[in-house]
This record gives sequence, C-alpha cells and structure tokens, in this order.
Amino acid sequence: MKANRRSFLKGGLAIGGLALLNPQKALAAGNDPLEESLRILAGPYLQTNFGNSISILWITNKNAASWVEYGNSAENLDQKAFGKSELGLKPAGRINCVTLERLKPGATYHYKIVSKEIKDFQPYKLTYGETVTGAAASFVNTDSTKDNVAFVMLNDIHDRPQSIPHLLNLVKDHQKDFVFFNGDIFDYQTNEQQIIDHMLQPCIDLFAKSLPFVYVRGNHETRGKFARDFADYFHHVGYTAFTVGPVRFVILDTGEDKEDTHPVYAGIVDFDAYRLEQARWLEEEISRKAFKNAPFRIVLMHIPPRYSGDAHGAVHCTEVFEPLLNKGKVDLVLSGHTHRYKVHAPDKKANHYPIIIGGGPREGTRTITRVNATKKEIRVSMLDDSGKEVGSYLVSRK
Ligand SMILES: [Fe+2]
Repeated sequence: MKANRRSFLKGGLAIGGLALLNPQKALAAGNDPLEESLRILAGPYLQTNFGNSISILWITNKNAASWVEYGNSAENLDQKAFGKSELGLKPAGRINCVTLERLKPGATYHYKIVSKEIKDFQPYKLTYGETVTGAAASFVNTDSTKDNVAFVMLNDIHDRPQSIPHLLNLVKDHQKDFVFFNGDIFDYQTNEQQIIDHMLQPCIDLFAKSLPFVYVRGNHETRGKFARDFADYFHHVGYTAFTVGPVRFVILDTGEDKEDTHPVYAGIVDFDAYRLEQARWLEEEISRKAFKNAPFRIVLMHIPPRYSGDAHGAVHCTEVFEPLLNKGKVDLVLSGHTHRYKVHAPDKKANHYPIIIGGGPREGTRTITRVNATKKEIRVSMLDDSGKEVGSYLVSRK
C-alpha cells in the first residue's frame, strides 16, 4: 500500500472541493479544508483470495497509524492487526489494507477499523492527533473446503455507479461467497474520488463491509493518468488463482485491446509482455494439484479468449491463452468486454469450454451473472437489468 505525500495532496484537494460544494461538510470540517479533522473517506471494504484470510481496506483523509480490532463477538474485539510492515516499518498513510490471517473456516468475525491521525512527524517526536473508528461490522470467513460455492459477476459498468446497486438488488436473496467485478468498472482512471464515488461507495453501502469482492481489471482500468495509482486502492486487481469449495478459480488480467505501439498509449504500456508472463504462469497453474484435482475449473477474464473481434489484444488472448485453457480442461470462462451478452457453447475446433460474456453498460444491455457450483455441476444464469434470464448454462461433472 502506497500512501505518499503526493497522494495525500491529491486527496486533500478532492476533499477541499467537496467541502466547498457542501456547506454542511465545510462546517463539520471547520470551514478550512486544510484544517479539517481526521475522517474516513471510504470503507471499510473487504477483499479476499480466500485461504482463511481477508483484507479490510479503508481510506482516510490524512496520514494515520491504523489497525483493525476484531474478535468472535461484537462485545469482545480482543485481537488487533496492522497493515503489512515493509522493511520493518508499519504503514502510516491514508490508504489502509489490513489482512487478517489464519481465520477459522466458517466462523463469523466482528471488527472495527481504527485510525489515529499523525499530526506532526518529526524525526524524534511523532505527535498523534485524534482517533477515528468505523462502525462495528462483521463478516463470515468462507470455509474453502465446503461442498459448494456461489458468486455473482458484474462487468462493464463504465462509470455508472447506479448500475451496481441496481444489478445487485436483482439477486439480493441469492446466497453468495463473493461479488466478482470482471473489469471496465470505469472508463479510465482520473483520481481517487472517482474510485470512491463510482465503485467503492456503492459497494460499501450495499455489501462490501460484510462480503468480499474480487476484482480484475479490464482494458479501461489500465487507462488514464491515475491508472498507475489504481492498484493501491485494492488488495488485489491482477492475475491470481484460488480455490473455494469445488472450484479452482483462475483470474487473468487481459490488458489493453490495442497493440502496445498504438499512439494513444504514447509508448508507456507493455501488455504483450504482461500477457506472455501470465501465459507462463498459467502453464504452471494448470499442472498444479489444486487445479487438476478440483472438481471444476472456472476462468475469469475481462477480454474473452475468443469472440471479441480482431483487435490486437483480443487476438493475442486467443493465441496465448486458448491453447492452455483447452489443455487444462477448463470447464467455464466468464468474460465481458464486448458489451453484448452472449453464451458461446464449446467448440471442438476452438474453445473446448463454454464462454459466457456479460453485457453493459447502457440501460437495457446490462447483466448480472449468477454462478452456483456444487461437486456435481455448475449452474450459470445471466439476468438482464429487468431481472429476466437472458442466458444460462449447465456444466455437469464428466
Ligand atoms: Fe467495456
């Protein structure tokens, strides 16, 4: 987690703008945005790669020493965890990520976030200011060895924050272990306020204090002047793999859609090499026991490995990933990117697995995709934004 002077200033300016627009906020902040009191700007929000650990994230308006107090009951938060120390130093910034580890499978944990303002940082005398705490919250640590897993996928929201509650409310009674964001949640990255307003806050309001999300970038999260700061706000937004219940999940970060040399990237992107790096990693992943022995293998990637046109990124994804996905006997791929929802059946000469592509971002084209897996089958149901099922698929254990 990076929280340097530069991002502190950026945050300060954003708050200043807000305070001036909102007299109540200005009053609470003592009218002078530079003198305002310590506040939690967003959070807590949860992310995880499972394996009995969960990351709790939040953003403050000023640099602070921060921690999480947690325990098995709301009355007894008897444990304390800090962000990851680096080179012996605990974090002391604004963007906080505290990972709780060695949690008990299936157990409920209660927690609260705490930040203590660093008012003055002299070499031999650090002066703390006030302390702020988040409201009490709780989550269930998913038992990764259970018999089933359920999640929903959102994709291609494209800076339309109202789509997040709209789509999630269509499946609010659907039990889920996590919410998956499959890229292009934004058009391009501008600043911290955009990340808060267009994604984090709607998630926090609806579920993210108690249910984790998993997020992988689309091609649009790689764009804009803030793209290089973007990952600081998340525990994880790149490629990874994890197991929950009967499913081995593999997440690929498919990068840009145009060639790296395209003028719009001005010579400062390197996605061919990044996709090749992931292909080498995927080759290793498909030979791991956790992958081979899982009842099912689901791959989540923004640009689908086929059926998304002839732009360089899409073609490169087919070239480098499809042979490995076939070799690994993947059961299902979930994607976005095309903005046209569609279920592509397996094809013996191409993708040996079904590819389900979610829609979006305009009203009438948006989808939310529900996935339920047991040891025997995976059921996929894609709903449009009126709640009508517009695609489905059943994968049965061979
Ligand atoms: Fe998109």
